[in-house]
Amino acid sequence: MKLEGLLAPSILSFDLSQIGGAVQTMAANGADWIHLDIMDGQFVPPISFGDSLVAALRPQVSIPFEAHLMTLTPERQFDAFIAAGCTRIIFHSEATVHSHRLAQSLRQRGAQAGLALNPGTPVEPALEILDELDLVLVMTVNPGWGGQPFLPHTLNKIRRLREASPSVAIQVDGGIDPSTLPLVKEAGANVFVVGSYLQRQPDLALATQAFKAACR
Ligand code: DX5
Ligand code: ZN
Repeated sequence: MKLEGLLAPSILSFDLSQIGGAVQTMAANGADWIHLDIMDGQFVPPISFGDSLVAALRPQVSIPFEAHLMTLTPERQFDAFIAAGCTRIIFHSEATVHSHRLAQSLRQRGAQAGLALNPGTPVEPALEILDELDLVLVMTVNPGWGGQPFLPHTLNKIRRLREASPSVAIQVDGGIDPSTLPLVKEAGANVFVVGSYLQRQPDLALATQAFKAACR
């Protein structure tokens, strides 16, 4: 089963005061989703941005939005980010003792459910509830910051998940660039979050096109 390779740029490393233009450029040049990194200063040290920025961006492009909630008690944020226009909500396994119930509650609200796993978390919490999940996010760095180096031990986790499910969307997030993309693809990932690599490129339109072609 060959799953389509999808590009989900993260806006975290961009200049947020100018972010509308960057999001429009990426959407027009092959981005499939916009990945929104929500940090609460508790689950991870930084605070990023909230649902008001997401709502302000929503009318500017037509591609879907996903919220990656790096927050404790993630269920407190579900309604706000769905109302702001996110089609998929990804919460962390480590942030709740009720991942099965929270995934169900997202689908009941009409959203897709994603479960994120930190680099130190085994794949089993996701395997146990695969029927309730639209996507599993295998963190390939420790969450909290853009621009960190890819952690190679995560390739084994991707392989184990892909062996267990040929069809679940497996997303990777952190340290993805042209050198690490082939490794995570080969291991079985098919949804690729890219932040600082795209932000660093002098021509964002061309870089997005080229990266999307490499994701396919
Ligand atoms: C990390 C975030 C990522 C991050 C990716 O906590 O979840 O989405 O912005 O950034 P890069 O691509 O720079 O590793
Ligand atoms: Zn993320």
